Amino acid sequence: MNKGCFITLEGGEGMGKTTNLVFIRDFLVSLGKRVIVTREPGGTPLGERIRDLFLTGGEIAPETELLLVFAARAQHLRDVIEPALASDAWVVCDRFTDASYAYQGGGRHVDSEFILNLEKMVQKGRKPDLTLLFDAPPEIGIARAKNRGVSDRMEAESLAFHSRVRNTYLLLAGLFPDRIRLVDASLPLENVQKAITTHLKSLCVP
Ligand SMILES: Nc1ncnc2c1ncn2[C@@H]1O[C@H](COP(=O)(O)OP(=O)(O)OP(=O)(O)O)[C@@H](O)[C@H]1O
Ligand SMILES: [Mg+2]
Repeated sequence: MNKGCFITLEGGEGMGKTTNLVFIRDFLVSLGKRVIVTREPGGTPLGERIRDLFLTGGEIAPETELLLVFAARAQHLRDVIEPALASDAWVVCDRFTDASYAYQGGGRHVDSEFILNLEKMVQKGRKPDLTLLFDAPPEIGIARAKNRGVSDRMEAESLAFHSRVRNTYLLLAGLFPDRIRLVDASLPLENVQKAITTHLKSLCVP
């Protein structure tokens, strides 16, 4: 009953993933779970250096970008995610492999077979137990993200890019309806958090 679960948060820029990470952690802790929150790319000292390259590294070939996120992911799985799950902790991760399909696949047109092969090799079968997909028209997220200040490499992309990212996420949600739960990110935060709580409760019922 105390077995850990692996939860990932997905969605385009400014959809509210990071805002809700703390809410989710606090909710799970209130249910008596031991929780580790982490993020991708990143989550380890090496991964955070890769994140820095990823967000600020100038012009990066799409395949390089994909390999960078999987390089960070391999380290993250080995050093953080797998040990935490093995110790029955819950892991809540801000972005994971669905983001590789959405951004590098949908956004940058990298062949999804390439991504699938990396997923198989790097994750060795590990997949999230639940993915919350924060979804809203990209214009909303971009406007919210702009309020935060300076744009990173992804935020600076075109609306067409962000629309492809969103459409790929929605495609994934259609392919994996048991794992991926949609959250309407255009709603006020209070409503978003009510929806999150409902999804988490369904996962936490013994
Ligand atoms: N439901 C909401 N309604 C209004 N504003 C929101 C809502 N959720 C988040 N915000 C605000 O939108 C901004 C972006 O949120 P946040 O940083 O959590 O998004 P994100 O999905 O983590 O973005 P990124 O993909 O860039 O990391 C923040 O300023 C946050 O306060
Ligand atoms: Mg964020």
